[in-house]
Amino acid sequence: MQIGIIGDIHGAWDEIDTAFFNASGYDALLFVGDFARVVNSRGVARRLAQLTVPAWAIPGNHDATTLAQLLAEIRGRRWATHWTALGMRRRVARLARELGPVTLGGFSLHSLGPDLGVVIARPHAMGGNRLYFRPYLKRAFGVSSFADSRDRLCSLIDAAPRDLIVLAHNGPAGLGADPSDPFGCDFHPALGDFGDPDLRDALAYARTTGHRVHAVLAGHMHHRSKHTGAWRRTWARTDETLYINTARVPRIEQGGERRHHVCLSIEARAAQAETVWVDRAGRIAERTLLAPSDPSAPQA
Ligand SMILES: [Fe+2]
Ligand SMILES: [Fe+2]
Repeated sequence: MQIGIIGDIHGAWDEIDTAFFNASGYDALLFVGDFARVVNSRGVARRLAQLTVPAWAIPGNHDATTLAQLLAEIRGRRWATHWTALGMRRRVARLARELGPVTLGGFSLHSLGPDLGVVIARPHAMGGNRLYFRPYLKRAFGVSSFADSRDRLCSLIDAAPRDLIVLAHNGPAGLGADPSDPFGCDFHPALGDFGDPDLRDALAYARTTGHRVHAVLAGHMHHRSKHTGAWRRTWARTDETLYINTARVPRIEQGGERRHHVCLSIEARAAQAETVWVDRAGRIAERTLLAPSDPSAPQA
């Protein structure tokens, strides 16, 4: 099974992308969220609605949120986070409608085939130092703490088939605290590991229940630091799970000549992934093996 994984779009999607993926032959597409350039996802959502390949998405912190809400959340202004969350359920529902055939998930379980499940993790994740968008998560899902979120994810894993992949906006904690690590904090290095602790704990739980999590796909922590210009390590493999940060931003480079995504292959043994660049003519210009199955091999 081959799955196209698309990282943070942030406005960078056009009809060339839609035509490429519709003709790609992928069995499915997964979107890690952050469709909006800043806060308005509607234009990208309407373009994604033209996709004919089965597709699932998780909303990022820039989707169905407002600028005032993002500022309130970043600054940790308790009352402002409450009043700016009013209307978020309506905004999420509108985004789901605008995405058309692309299924918008969040705390949800889906099937990619008879034997492969997809758990879509906590929506709108924005970093592991605190639970962002709590007023919305509480109203929509009854989740008001990392422990609530972990429990909700564990119950999805209980209901899932043995073979699984996980789609998240931000990655799990536990993959390193350095800005160069897949989900290390680059904009405030003192915050260290910016992965989600609820997702880390749910993945640990999945190992105890005999599930096989082939891959965890996320974004949010952009590959290149806006502050230092440094590039981060974009993947890791532990045990039998491949973790990929797909947030190449901007995903379209060189005036439209290079368009990024990741091709994930789920085979019987181990998940494999390649970075794929598509050109303006919709042809694959470059494929680079991202994750050799040998865990001792050096990382790219
Ligand atoms: Fe992003
Ligand atoms: Fe994000």
